[in-house]
Amino acid sequence: MYRILSKEVLAPRIKSFQIEAPEIARKAQPGHFVIVRLDKKGERIPLTIADHDTDAGTIELVVQEVGRTTVQMGLMKQGDYIMDIMGPLGIPLHIEKVDCVVFVAGGLGVAPIYPKAKRHFEVGSHVISLIGAQSRDLIIMRDRMEKVSHEVRYSTDDGSFGHHGFVTDILKEILEQSTKVDEVIAVGPLVMMKAAAMVTRPFGVKTIVSLNPIMVDGTGMCGGCRVTVGGQTKFACVDGPAFDGHQVDFDELIARQSRFLEQEKTAMQSFLEPSSGQEECRCHRG
Ligand SMILES: Cc1cc2nc3c(=O)[nH]c(=O)nc-3n(C[C@H](O)[C@H](O)[C@H](O)COP(=O)(O)OP(=O)(O)OC[C@H]3O[C@@H](n4cnc5c(N)ncnc54)[C@H](O)[C@@H]3O)c2cc1C
Ligand code: FES
Repeated sequence: MYRILSKEVLAPRIKSFQIEAPEIARKAQPGHFVIVRLDKKGERIPLTIADHDTDAGTIELVVQEVGRTTVQMGLMKQGDYIMDIMGPLGIPLHIEKVDCVVFVAGGLGVAPIYPKAKRHFEVGSHVISLIGAQSRDLIIMRDRMEKVSHEVRYSTDDGSFGHHGFVTDILKEILEQSTKVDEVIAVGPLVMMKAAAMVTRPFGVKTIVSLNPIMVDGTGMCGGCRVTVGGQTKFACVDGPAFDGHQVDFDELIARQSRFLEQEKTAMQSFLEPSSGQEECRCHRG
């Protein structure tokens, strides 16, 4: 059992949890994730370790409420217990000093990007961070990203903050300038990562994306997180989640991502509406 030490609302439907997990905190590195099961009937969902404190024995998980389990987790409070947290999982990102690294974060992608930007900043790379969101109120972890970046630029889809448009517009602008960019690391919705890889391709800039396919066991056994990279089948949980963005078959992955939509809808309904399923509504949303 893992105790929630504190909870903070970062933006509408996005919450951060500090969780007591000394063994995981001791091993956590940028790029690692965990698989969480909230209670004995719960499904298993992957969440990135957004930060960790080895001395305090804590990890931070940042959660966006999109469906049954994330909504259920969003309702948990300080002092509550999470039944299982398995990890750290995945291959940590290899980070060494480069002249210039550009981070591209879309929406919740800031949370997985933060530990990677922090480590690059610590080892002395010049860090440029580009943060995009639908609107100003959905930009999260701004102070922390500004602390670990030499330059931060923002974009919003509705123009409420920073550049009016997509974060990839700013990426293109930067690559067109003479600045030498050694690598780009993009994390966010699949369409955003695909767009980032398309922007960097003509410039020949190494581009790492962190994939978020549906995962079940996190051990490479169930096949749930299968992705095609460079024509080969890979499993994001054990071979990733970071891959060369120029090699990923994004179209296949985007199609696979929606294959459980009906089941996800049913699970959410049975959680929210007691009459539609056997379970009682626990969200207290009226
Ligand atoms: C390696 C990895 C790290 C992740 N890190 C984080 C994180 O730090 N914070 C966070 O909030 N989320 C993260 N995710 C996504 C998170 O796992 C999903 O949002 C979650 O599984 C949804 O579960 P649910 O029961 O709430 O929603 P579901 O009912 O399962 O799904 C609801 C909606 O979310 C979409 N969805 C489901 N699974 C995923 C997924 N894996 N990625 C993107 N969209 C999905 C579905 O298509 C559907 O539209 C990560 C995913 C991976 C693979
Ligand atoms: S989650 Fe099962 S193979 Fe990756």
